[in-house]
Formats: sequence, structure tokens, C-alpha cells
Amino acid sequence: MRKPMIAGNWKMHKTRDEALQFIYSVNVKVPNKEYVDSVVCAQAPVLRDLVKRQGEHLRIGAQNMHQETEGAYTGELSAALLEDLNVDYVIIGHSERREYFNETDETVNQKVHQAFRYELTPILCVGESLEIREKGDTNLFVTKQIKEALKGLKDEQVKELVVAYEPIWAIGTGKTATPEEANEAIKNIREVITTLYDAGVSDNVRILYGGSVKPANIDDLLAQSDIDGALVGGASLNAKDFLTLVDAALNKLQK
Ligand code: 13P
Repeated sequence: MRKPMIAGNWKMHKTRDEALQFIYSVNVKVPNKEYVDSVVCAQAPVLRDLVKRQGEHLRIGAQNMHQETEGAYTGELSAALLEDLNVDYVIIGHSERREYFNETDETVNQKVHQAFRYELTPILCVGESLEIREKGDTNLFVTKQIKEALKGLKDEQVKELVVAYEPIWAIGTGKTATPEEANEAIKNIREVITTLYDAGVSDNVRILYGGSVKPANIDDLLAQSDIDGALVGGASLNAKDFLTLVDAALNKLQK
């Protein structure tokens, strides 16, 4: 059985004080990391403070990084620095990065490789727009995103990777994909991985759902066969809600 994961994506929210307050309220309360991976992805300047206070079971992630090792890339963040700070995860290819910062399938692929070079676990985001869904092309579109993102990766790397299926129309809109819609798209992702890698790889890779996940809908999402957890924006900003979500993941395991 795959270990469930709840990853909070704080996006451009929280000052240092707010981030520390959150960490102090959750770091001793999240479930044992043997059973659930609980992760918070914060803005870069607070990562060091959060890692220092993450406690035994919470883990910290970044929201983006550059694909090059170092150089004249003003304002960018390197994988080497993230590794140096003992950050464990990095979100790659979030739809907001693709839309506002011109990330392409090619740069996403380069970033995934770069993350592995520095022992960071990528949380690779894919997902379709409303227009694509309405045309009935969701699986076609997401299949292409997955194939491009995974190019050149070895079995061992894909096993470690976390994928987040986030339909763009469900992000921050209060509109969640139904658990069945989310599961169908996630199943398709797993099938694509099965066609590309040895048996066992696609069984291991964790695939999360993201898009308006809240304490009120997490149980139904996690009840689906292929949904291994959630990448959560808005609801992860509140410590109480975040703890409810990680507890729901623990309950999934016990069912
Ligand atoms: P919301 O949970 O706020 O819809 O955001 C989802 C998301 O983009 C997580 O990466």
C-alpha cells in the first residue's frame, strides 16, 4: 500500500511570524511519518526557519526552483541551496508557474531531473484547463504532460516521485472535481506510467489530487482507489484544517 501524503502549498501567503506560529501548532501533532507524509511548502525565505522547527514528523518543501545549477538568474532559487537547507520536497510545474511564469513541459522536465540531482523529491503538477475538459481531451492533455515531464528518468526516480493532478478549473475556485472524476484522471496517469516503466513503478508512485480540497471533502477523495493524498492550497493555511486533513489521511490507512 502506498503511504498517503498531504502537502500544503501556501503559495504567496504568510509572514515569518505567521509561518512560525503555524509550525509550532502542528509540528508535534502531525501523524507519525512512517504512516503519513505531512508536508508544508512555503515561500523560500522562511524555509530554513521551518526546517529547523519541523520536528520529527513534518517535512518542508519549496514551491519552485531553477533548472540550472548556478549562474546569472536574478531572483531564482537553486536546488543546491534547497538541499543545503535540508528541504525535502519541491513543487514543480504548478499550473500557476506554467501560466504566469512561462514554464513549459521542457523546463518542467529539466527541473525534475535537477531536483533528483540534489536529493529533493519533486511534487510534479499536471492538470487541464476547463476548455480542455469540456472538449473531452483531459486524458490526452495530461498524458502528454506526464510523458514530457518524465522523459529520461530512471525507474528508481519515478518510484520516488510524487505526482499531483490539479485540474486548473478546480484551483481556488471552490469547485472540486468529483471524487470519481479525480480518480479517473489519476488512474489514467498511473496507466501512462505503466506503459513507460517496469511493473512495480506505477504501483509505487504516489498521485495526489489538488483543487479546492477541504476538511469537508477529503474523506470522499481519499476513499477512491487511486488517490493517495492531496496537494492543498487555501485550506492548508489554517493549522486546524491542515491537521484535520492529515488525520483523514491516517484514517484512510486504518480503513
Ligand atoms: P486550492 O486548494 O486553494 O484550490 O489550491 C490548490 C493548489 O493549487 C495546490 O497546489
